[in-house]
Amino acid sequence: MKVLRTIAELRQELNLKRQAIRSSASVVGLVPTMGYLHQGHASLMQAGRQQSDIVVLSIFVNPIQFGPNEDFDSYPRDEARDVETARSQGVDIVFIPSVEEMYPQATQTTVSVSKLTERLCGASRPGHFDGVTTVVSKLFNIVQPQRAFFGMKDAQQVAVIQQMVNDLNMPVEIVPCPIVREEDGLALSSRNVYLNPEQRTQALVLSKALRAAQEAADTGAATTAADIRRILREQIATSPLAVIDYAEIQAFPSLEPLADQEEVQGRDDLLIALAVKFGKTRLIDNIRLQKS
Ligand code: PAJ
Repeated sequence: MKVLRTIAELRQELNLKRQAIRSSASVVGLVPTMGYLHQGHASLMQAGRQQSDIVVLSIFVNPIQFGPNEDFDSYPRDEARDVETARSQGVDIVFIPSVEEMYPQATQTTVSVSKLTERLCGASRPGHFDGVTTVVSKLFNIVQPQRAFFGMKDAQQVAVIQQMVNDLNMPVEIVPCPIVREEDGLALSSRNVYLNPEQRTQALVLSKALRAAQEAADTGAATTAADIRRILREQIATSPLAVIDYAEIQAFPSLEPLADQEEVQGRDDLLIALAVKFGKTRLIDNIRLQKS
C-alpha cells in the first residue's frame, strides 16, 4: 500500500498501477473521507475492494465545508491509525494531501448544487454542501475513478453528489453504502468521540426514534407525514439533553418534503432524517421507509 501526499505522485502511481493491470477496463474505486476512520468507513473500503481493481482512499479534512463556528480545528485526527485501518482493508493507495496541496491559492471556482442543498443539513450549515461538492469534484478530477463509494449515513450528501454527477456528466458511478451502527444502534461517526458518557447514552434516542417511526408506519399506527413527525418529536423529547435541529420525512433522492397530510403507506421512496444536538455535538441519522 502506498501513502501519497501530492497530486503529482498520486497520478504517477495510478498510471503505473493501471499499466500493471494491463487492462483499459480496470476500475479505479475512490472512497473519500475526512479520516478518523471507523467501521462505517471500513465498510466503504470493503465495498470498494469488491467492486474495483484499484482502491484509493482519500483522507482530507476539508476546510471549506466547515462553517466559521464549526469544528474544523478540533476535528479528530489520527493519521497513523487510519493508515493501518486502510492497510488492513486492502486499500491500494491512501491519498493524504495537505490543505496547501488541495487549495494552493484562494479558490475562485465553486461547484454548487442548488435546490437539494437548501433543506435539512444545508439549512443549518450554510455553504457546507458547496464545500463538499467542490472538494469531491476536485478529488474526482485528481483520481479519475470509475466508481466512488459514499455512506447513506449522509443521505443528503449522496443525493447532492448524485445530482452533481448527473448535471455535470461526470463519468463516475456513485455507490451508496448502508449505515453501520454500534451494537446499541448509534450510527458510527467520527464525531461520536465528542460525546460525554451521559450524552452518549442519550444519543441512542436518534436510532430509537427512527425505529419507532418505522414501526408505526409498518403497523399502521402512523399513516401520514404529520404522524411520523409527531412520533419523532415525542421520542426525542424523552432525552432531556437532545435539541432537535430537524426531524423530517421526505422523498429520496429528490428530498421533496411531504405535506403533513400526505400518506406514507405504500411508498418506498421515503427517507426519515434527523439532526439532533447534544451540547455542541450535532448528530445525524436516517432510515429508509420500507413499503409495508
Ligand atoms: P466523512 O464524514 O469522513 O465520511 C466519509 C464517508 O463515510 C461518507 O460517505 C460517509 O457517509 C461515510 N460514513 C460515515 N459514517 C458512516 C456510517 N456509520 N456508516 C456508513 N458510512 C458512513 O462525508 C465526508 O467525510 C466528507 O463530506 C467528504 C465526502 C469526504 C468530503 O469532504
